[in-house]
Amino acid sequence: MRKRIQWLEDAVFYEIYPQSFKDTDADGIGNINGITEKLPYIKELGCNAIWLNPCFDSPFGDAGYDVADYYKVAPRYGTNEDIVRMFMEAHKLGMHVLLDLVPGHTSWRHPWFVESMKAQKNEFTDRYIWTDSIWESPEGYGSLRGISDRDGSCLVNFFTHQPALNYGFYKIDRPWQQSMDSEGAIATRNAMKDVMRFWLSKGCDGFRVDMAGSLVKNDEDGKGTIALWQDIRSFLDESFPEAVLVSEWGEPDKSIEGGFHMDFLLHFGPSHYNDLFRCEKPFFGGEGDASEFVEKYLENYAKAAGRGLICIPSGNHDMDRLARTINGDKVKIAFAFLLSMPGAPFIYYGDEIGMRYVENLTSVEGGYGRTGSRSPMQWDDSLNAGFSDADGKNLYIPVDPKADRPNVKSQKTDDTSLYSEVKKLIAIRQSHKALKNSGEIKFIRNGAEGEPLVYMRSCEEERIIVALNPAGKDQVLQTDGECSEVIYSFGGTPDFSAGKCRIKRGSAVFIKIS
Ligand code: BGC
Repeated sequence: MRKRIQWLEDAVFYEIYPQSFKDTDADGIGNINGITEKLPYIKELGCNAIWLNPCFDSPFGDAGYDVADYYKVAPRYGTNEDIVRMFMEAHKLGMHVLLDLVPGHTSWRHPWFVESMKAQKNEFTDRYIWTDSIWESPEGYGSLRGISDRDGSCLVNFFTHQPALNYGFYKIDRPWQQSMDSEGAIATRNAMKDVMRFWLSKGCDGFRVDMAGSLVKNDEDGKGTIALWQDIRSFLDESFPEAVLVSEWGEPDKSIEGGFHMDFLLHFGPSHYNDLFRCEKPFFGGEGDASEFVEKYLENYAKAAGRGLICIPSGNHDMDRLARTINGDKVKIAFAFLLSMPGAPFIYYGDEIGMRYVENLTSVEGGYGRTGSRSPMQWDDSLNAGFSDADGKNLYIPVDPKADRPNVKSQKTDDTSLYSEVKKLIAIRQSHKALKNSGEIKFIRNGAEGEPLVYMRSCEEERIIVALNPAGKDQVLQTDGECSEVIYSFGGTPDFSAGKCRIKRGSAVFIKIS
C-alpha cells in the first residue's frame, strides 16, 4: 500500500505558468524570483501547493514542453539556485511545489536527440523511437524524416519538433519496435529516474507528469504504461517516499494503479468537463446540462475511491480561460463547485480574479489558440498591470488590453470581488473535513437542463449539502435531515421548512445537515 501523503488531504493547488506570472528583471518575461516574491500572495489566497509549468532549458517551441536540458532552469527564468531558494521559501510558508515532468518527448535540440540522429551507433541511438528505414513511417503517429544521417524515421509525440522517447512497445509488430525491457527502453527509463532524483534531491515535492498515459507504445489497455509507472513508483518509494505524482492521463483507474496519487479530469476525451464550463451552453453559464458529466465523474470516482484523487482544474494553459464562456456572478458559482468537490482543486493563475482570454493574439511559443489564456498576470493598475517594468512592446505576450481588465490589487480590497469569494471558499473548504480532498460525495440532483447540481459531501464527523443553482429558476430541495447551519451562501440565503429547502436562482449554498 502506497504511503499516505498527509499534505495532499487538504492541498489546494495554484498553477503557475512561469513566463507570465511575475517579471522581476524587466526583460518582459516572468521568472523564478518573481514566483518567490509572490508566494505570500498565493498563500494568502489559501492555496498551499503549486504546480509549476516547465521551467527547464528549452528552445520554447512548445512553451517549455520541449525540453533541451532536464537539469537546468532556463536562463530566462533564472538559475537552479533560484529555484532551490523558491522551494525553500515555499516550504517555510507550509507550501509544496510540483515541477512539470515531460517524460514522453524532448525538443529535437536536446543533445540526446542530436546524438540519436547520428548514423554511428552510440549511447543515444535507442533513446528515441526510430524505424529502421526512412521509407517507413510509424503507423498512427507523426514522424521526423529526412533530417539525419541516420536511416530511419523518428516518431514524434506532439508537435513535429518533439521526438518521442523510447520506453518500448507493449505489443511488437514491426522489427524496429523494441520491447519494454530492451536495453534502450530501460536506459530511457533510468534517465528519467535520474531527472526525478535530481530535482527531488533539490527540494521539489513531486511532479505533474505530462502525457503520462502514453509512454509505452502499442499499449491499448495501458498495461505496459501502468507497469512502467509502477516501477518508477517503487524507485520513488525507496528513495523519495514522500514524492507526489499527479498525472495528465484522464483514466484514474490506470494512473492510480500505476502509482499516481492523483489524476486530472481532462478537458478532452470522455470526461464531459467542458459541459460545465466551456461549451456553447455551459452548465455554470446557467443554461446547460451537467448530467453526463455527473455520470462520467461517478464512474471514475468509483474506480479511484479510497485509492487516489481526481483533480478538477479551474482551467490550465491548454484551455480557454473560464471567463471566456462564463461571466459575472456565475464564475463564483463555478468556483463554489470547484472548491467543494473531492480531489485536490487546481486554480489556474489569474482565474481567481477572472482574467479573460485575450482575443486575436498571434501564437507565441507554440501556443496557437492557447496563447490567449497565457497572458501576463494582472497584479495592479500600474504599468503592464504590475507584471513587468519592461516597455509594454517588449512583453513576450501582451497584457490584456481592455481598460476594465481585472487586477489583484483592486479585488483584494473589494469584499464582493471574485478574489474575495475564492478566498472565502478555500477557507471554508479547509475548515470542514467533509469538504476536503478525501471526503465522500453522493449526488442528489444531477444538473440536467434547468436543474440544480446538488451533492452531499461527508465524512464521519459531518455531512454537508452543496447546492449549485446557476439557472434562472428557484428550486426546492428535499433534505433527509435538518439544516443545522448554512456554512456558505452566495446569491441569496436558502429558506427552510420541515426538511425542505428553497434554493434561489443564481445561487450557491453549502448547508450542514444534522
Ligand atoms: C501540455 C501541453 C503540451 C503537450 C505536449 C500537454 O499535455 O499540457 O501544453 O503542449 O502536453 O507536451
